[in-house]
Amino acid sequence: MDTSVILGWLQDEGYEVHAVYVDLGQPCEDRQAILEKAKTCGAKTSRIVDGQEEMCRDFAFPIAQWQAKYESIYLLGTSIARPLISKICLQVAREVGADAYVHGATGKGNDQCRFQLAAEALDPSVKIIAPWRMEKFRALFPGRNAMIKYCEEKNIPVKASMAKPYSSDENCLHISYEAGNLEDLMVNGVEAVDFGMTVSPQEAPDQVENVKITFEKGVPVTVNGEKCSPLEVVLKLNEIGGRNGVGRIDMVENRFVGMKSRGVYESPGMTILYDALLVLEQLTVDRDLIHLRDQLAPVVAEMVYYGFWYAPKMDALLAFGKEAMKHVTGEVSLNLYKGNVMVDGRSSKNSLYDEGIATMEGGGSYDQTDAEGFLRIQGLPSRVQGRVTPRAY
Ligand code: ARG
Ligand code: SIN
Repeated sequence: MDTSVILGWLQDEGYEVHAVYVDLGQPCEDRQAILEKAKTCGAKTSRIVDGQEEMCRDFAFPIAQWQAKYESIYLLGTSIARPLISKICLQVAREVGADAYVHGATGKGNDQCRFQLAAEALDPSVKIIAPWRMEKFRALFPGRNAMIKYCEEKNIPVKASMAKPYSSDENCLHISYEAGNLEDLMVNGVEAVDFGMTVSPQEAPDQVENVKITFEKGVPVTVNGEKCSPLEVVLKLNEIGGRNGVGRIDMVENRFVGMKSRGVYESPGMTILYDALLVLEQLTVDRDLIHLRDQLAPVVAEMVYYGFWYAPKMDALLAFGKEAMKHVTGEVSLNLYKGNVMVDGRSSKNSLYDEGIATMEGGGSYDQTDAEGFLRIQGLPSRVQGRVTPRAY
C-alpha cells in the first residue's frame, strides 16, 4: 500500500513516475496484479526486471560462503537483496532518463540505508526521494486510515495489503515478518505468523528426508544428482527444506539506525545451504584459514546488514571469501527431520581429513612422541608465569 500511495502522491507533486518491480523470486506475490496496479496508479511506464539468478549467484552465495549471519542467526535474506534492487532501479532510471530514485522504505529502518548507500555508491550524484522521511508526506498520511482513504479516492486496490497483518519482505531466499502483533515480544512468533515457505516442524513428516548437494569451489552445482543453476538450487532446497520445517527463526535484532526490533524469518533453502557448506569446509579448508574466516564473518554480516555492499572493504572481503572456497569441492549428504538439519555423510577429493593420521587404532602416521616436544614448547610461557605469579587452585 505504501508504494501505491507514494506513486499517486508523486504525481500529485508533479512528477512523472516509472515503476519497477524487481523479480527476486518473491514466493507469494502476484506479479501481474502488481504490474496492473502500477498502471492503475498512473505510472508512466511499469516493468518487471528479473534479478533472480543474479541475486542467488552474485549476492546470496558469496555471503553463504562466508557463513555470514547477522547477530549470529539472521541469514540476511532482505539485506542482501537491497543492493541489487538499487542497481536494477538505477539501470532503469538511466534508460528512461529519470532524475530521481524513489523508494517506500520507512525512515525508521535498515532498508532506507541499504537502498540509498548502494545507489549512492553506484551513482554518486543520484537524487534519492524517500517520502516517509519527508514531513509534508507524513502530514498527509499520518496513519494507515489516511492511506486507505487516499487509495479509495484514487481507485487504488488495497484489499491484499489490508489483509496482511505484518510488514513483510519476500524473495526466494526468505520471507521476513515484522510489526503487527509481533511487536509484543511475548507473542510466540512462530505460532503467530502464517508462513509462506515452510510448514511447522510439528506438521513436517514423521520420517527423515535425505538431500545430497555437490559443490564446486564452494558453489552448489547439483541437488540430489540434478545439475542446477544458482536459482534452481535455492528453489529446490526451499521446497525440500520447506516441507521439513527447516529455517524458521525469531529474534530481536539491532537495526543500523539504533533501535532494537523484532523479526521472524523463514529461509528453508539457505539454511540447508549454509549447513552443507559448513560440513564440506570442515574437511577441505585449512584450520587457520577457516578460523580467520570465522573471525571476520560477523564483519561481513554487519556490512551487508548496514548496506555497505558496494564498498572497497566488501570487495576485498568477497575476494577473500572466494579464495577461501578454492578447495571446497565435493558432496554433502544431509538428513532433514522436523526442522533439524543433520549430517549424514560427506566426501571430497580435496579432503584434508586423513584417517591414517586421525585413527585411534594403533599405528598410523602420527607419532605420539612428537607431542612431547610440541607441548614442552607450547607450555613454556605458562610454566614461567606459574612460577612467577602462582595461581591459587
Ligand atoms: N529486519 C530485516 C532486515 O533488516 C528485515 C527487513 C524487512 N523489510 C521490510 N521492508 N519489511 O534485513
Ligand atoms: C522499513 O523500515 O521500511 C522496513 C524495516 C527496515 O527497513 O528495517
